[in-house]
Amino acid sequence: MSSATFDYGPDFYDEATVFPRYQEARAAVDEGNTTLEEPYVLAFIGDLRGRSVLDLGCGDGTFGESVLRAGADRYHGIDGSGRMLAAAAARLDPATLERADLNAWTCREPGAWDVVTARMVL
Ligand SMILES: C[S@@+](CC[C@H](N)C(=O)[O-])C[C@H]1O[C@@H](n2cnc3c(N)ncnc32)[C@H](O)[C@@H]1O
Repeated sequence: MSSATFDYGPDFYDEATVFPRYQEARAAVDEGNTTLEEPYVLAFIGDLRGRSVLDLGCGDGTFGESVLRAGADRYHGIDGSGRMLAAAAARLDPATLERADLNAWTCREPGAWDVVTARMVL
């Protein structure tokens, strides 16, 4: 049996051909992660009103947008892809964003977060 490894880390998403294709796929009306998965993730997390959320691998901020819409009052997104973070910055307000490799990242505010998410990242 053979196995292959694929690297879907930040460099993958920063590739010029990948990023626009990813954006196009996520914007589709019937995109599965948004229409099928996200409602369950948000229901699992529960009431976000007034809560602080740390999002590891925040991507283009689409999930952060849902988190803020659900009432979170603080959102901090971390991602290694510059293209993803630029898209997130254009989309999210209020929010703080940080570019980092999660493999080497250390939390500067342990205990500050009510909710920590890492959706489709690990
Ligand atoms: C499939 S996207 C998911 C984005 C977002 N969590 C969502 O639900 O829409 C995976 C994201 O994880 C990021 N990522 C993957 N490995 C990472 C690492 N080691 N450090 C930082 N970001 C990483 C990628 O750059 C990409 O933006």
